[in-house]
Amino acid sequence: MKRVLVTGSNGLLGQKLTSLYTQVKDIELIATGKGPDRYPYKKDYTYASLDITNEQDVMELISRYKPDTIIHTAAMTNVDQCETEKEACRKLNVDAVSYLIHAANANGSHLIHLSTDFIFDGTSGPYAEDDEAKPLSYYGWSKLDAENLVKEKANSWAIVRTILVFGIVADMSRSNIVLWAKGALESGKELNVVDDQFRSATLAEDLAMGCRLIEQKQAQGIYHISGKDYMSVFELVSRVAAFWNLPTDNLNRSTSAGINQAAQRPPKTGFILDKAVHDLAYNPHSFEEGLAVLDAQLKGDLTL
Ligand SMILES: NC(=O)c1ccc[n+]([C@@H]2O[C@H](COP(=O)([O-])OP(=O)(O)OC[C@H]3O[C@@H](n4cnc5c(N)ncnc54)[C@H](OP(=O)(O)O)[C@@H]3O)[C@@H](O)[C@H]2O)c1
Repeated sequence: MKRVLVTGSNGLLGQKLTSLYTQVKDIELIATGKGPDRYPYKKDYTYASLDITNEQDVMELISRYKPDTIIHTAAMTNVDQCETEKEACRKLNVDAVSYLIHAANANGSHLIHLSTDFIFDGTSGPYAEDDEAKPLSYYGWSKLDAENLVKEKANSWAIVRTILVFGIVADMSRSNIVLWAKGALESGKELNVVDDQFRSATLAEDLAMGCRLIEQKQAQGIYHISGKDYMSVFELVSRVAAFWNLPTDNLNRSTSAGINQAAQRPPKTGFILDKAVHDLAYNPHSFEEGLAVLDAQLKGDLTL
């Protein structure tokens, strides 16, 4: 039986991977996260607590399980926090990746590393895998530095870049664009949303499936895995409102210049998905299909 080890298994992608792999019969899943397990359906996998900033623990745990594949989702993902807490960001997003590379190489594991559209400057999206990286934020730089470590040092690797991931899991440590938009629209308060940033938002289940396809094929190299619909953040929020039939009277267009955030965001990202579609048969949901998946989960079962 093949063994897959996931880091950051309490996170949005981490829990979706746990949900996916516990339904795959010929894979043994080792889910690892910081502190206790927060995935609610404790069946058909092994959980081990792992703080990836502890070099010795990373090597010991990976040497104990010798996974065929490591899917590395853990990161400091709050872009503004990375800008203001650069040292902590570097420890988690770069230094820890070098520990994982070392442990993966020592145990013959294929390393699937998660990265971001924020490695691009957003002047010419949608982007292909080999387009030039030029981060605007410390988060973007940390993820690009980690990509370069993986490319230079890992023996067997894939890098999965993704965009604006949305979905729901148990006990989330942070929200995401769709849950935030739905909550804000429902509250009826004044809402200023940028109309000059363009993204292809990604259903967390699609991202988990992209990782699974790469693991299954032991694919090597960089893959862009995102949603297929490209829109401004304002349009995204408007489509969330339309889907749940929420009022837009207090929804206002704004520009990036009018929003005060610590980290600069790339204006137009989005991905060209041809490589993932061709090599992996990656087939993401449309945005509204993704909202329907989320809606069913909000009404009951997180494993749907
Ligand atoms: N979400 C997005 O929009 C987005 C966009 C582009 C790229 N990505 C990339 O995709 C990957 C997955 O993102 P996500 O949305 O699943 O993020 P997430 O929900 O924030 O999950 C990250 C997980 O990392 C865990 N973590 C933090 N410090 C750790 C440590 N020292 N040791 C072990 N685990 C630690 C967190 O634990 P706690 O839950 O306990 O805090 C959290 O569960 C990340 O690499 C991210 O950079 C995400």
